[in-house]
This record gives sequence, structure tokens and C-alpha cells, in this order.
Amino acid sequence: MVPAAGRGERLGPGAPKALRELGGAPLLVHAVRALGRSRAIGLVVVVAPPDGVEQVLGLLDGHGLDGENVQVVAGGATRQESVRLGLAAVPADVGIVLVHDAARPLVPVEVVDAVAAAVRDGADAVVPAVPLADTVKRVEPRPNGEPEPVLDTPERATLRAVQTPQGFRRDLLDAVHAKALADESVASQDAPPAATDDAGLVERYGGRVVVVPGHEEAFKVTRPLDLVLAEAVLARRRASDGF
Ligand code: CTP
Ligand code: MG
Repeated sequence: MVPAAGRGERLGPGAPKALRELGGAPLLVHAVRALGRSRAIGLVVVVAPPDGVEQVLGLLDGHGLDGENVQVVAGGATRQESVRLGLAAVPADVGIVLVHDAARPLVPVEVVDAVAAAVRDGADAVVPAVPLADTVKRVEPRPNGEPEPVLDTPERATLRAVQTPQGFRRDLLDAVHAKALADESVASQDAPPAATDDAGLVERYGGRVVVVPGHEEAFKVTRPLDLVLAEAVLARRRASDGF
């Protein structure tokens, strides 16, 4: 599944992020192709912006991704809601689901294969991740660039930056999304914030998540500089394919 319903506020004004172009094709098209390179993937469910289903169908069609292996559904206001809506469109006989951000257009097929293989080999939930370059500090957040008190510094060697696709036993992913929805409707004040990744929901309800090696080219296009980097990576790939 490819959640692609976000607005891309941190990327700045313009079309929804997943529809922004990279090397002549929308990020979303790159992401769908990246999954399609893996033999582990049967069906791709794309979760479009709520009012963008027709547009996404047109874009996929225009890039030759209009087969019966690609389906499009409307997303929601949060990533968590979008994934839940996408899951509802996954056929009942599918036992393993990979969730991959449209905003990670350049994920190498090796990462997709490794995640799928780890679930197939028995893991409940699998996330690809890379070690951090920067030291990370926990702070008391303050607005408007005010100095923020530091609470502590986790040991860098124990930290990982997680990427997608994240892979799950389908019944588990269904269950944690259903629980999260139920929890939101009972305790609107105390409800935890919407999850920024699916593995986070599995952790919240006591499930086991394992990490496999990710890849530096699976980075997320979030801010304008990321788009510059993505163009450079794509240009390098195209140049080396030419030789
Ligand atoms: N996403 C989604 N539905 C939402 C929000 C996000 O399907 N309501 C998707 C995005 O399209 C993206 C992925 O989740 O592929 C990761 O989210 P993020 O990088 O945060 O993208 P945006 O939410 O679009 O960006 P921003 O947070 O800067 O607005
Ligand atoms: Mg977001």
C-alpha cells in the first residue's frame, strides 16, 4: 500500500507532495514502480488525497500503471486514517501488507525484498532503518525559536531512523488500526497523537517490531532540499544505467 494523501506542508506551496514531479514523473509514480520491482508485491493500493482520486488514476494511467495490479482509494486527514482506509481495500486473502510512503520514491528493491522476506520468515512487524549521523537530544519544545531546555541525550549507537516500506502480518495491522480508532473515539482528550508510522501502533499495543537494514536512498522527501537530493540520485542512476 502507498499512502499518498498528505499535503506536503513542509515542502512548501504547490501540489500535494505525492503528485510533485521528480525527473518527469510524480513521486507517487516512482514509489509505485519501486514496489512493483519486487517479486514479493502482488497488488498495490494507492491512497490518494481525499479529493484527488480521479487525478491519481489519470497520472497512473499516463505512466502505464493502470493495470489490475494497481488500485486507488481516497485517503483521510491523517496518515493513520489514510492507511486504515487503504487497508480496507486490501483483499481478504492477502496475508502480508507492506506500507510504503509515496514520499520515499527512490527506495531500492533490495529493501522492499528484505522487509517482505522478514515477514514471510515469521516476524509480525518489520521496519527498515539506518543508523543516525547526528547526535539527538530530547528537549522541552518551545515555540518561535526560543531556547529549548535539553532533557537528555540518548546514546546514538542505539538509535535508528526508520524508513518504509514497513511490513506486517495483515491480521495484526488490521487489529492495531481498529484498536487505535476505538481508543480515539472513547478518550478524545487522553488519546495518543495519530501515529506517524504503522510500527508505532504495533508497539503501542504491545506487539513486537524488528528492524532490518534500510538504505540511504530510501530517504523521505520532506523539505525542499530533499527534492534537490532526489533529483541528483535519480540523475546518477540514469547516468550509470546508460553505461
Ligand atoms: N499521508 C497520507 N495521508 C495523510 C498524511 C500523510 O497518506 N493524511 C502520506 C503522505 O502522502 C506521505 C506519507 O504519508 O506519502 C508520509 O507523510 P509525510 O512525509 O508527513 O507527508 P505529508 O503529510 O504530505 O507532508 P507534511 O507532513 O510536510 O505535510
Ligand atoms: Mg505529514
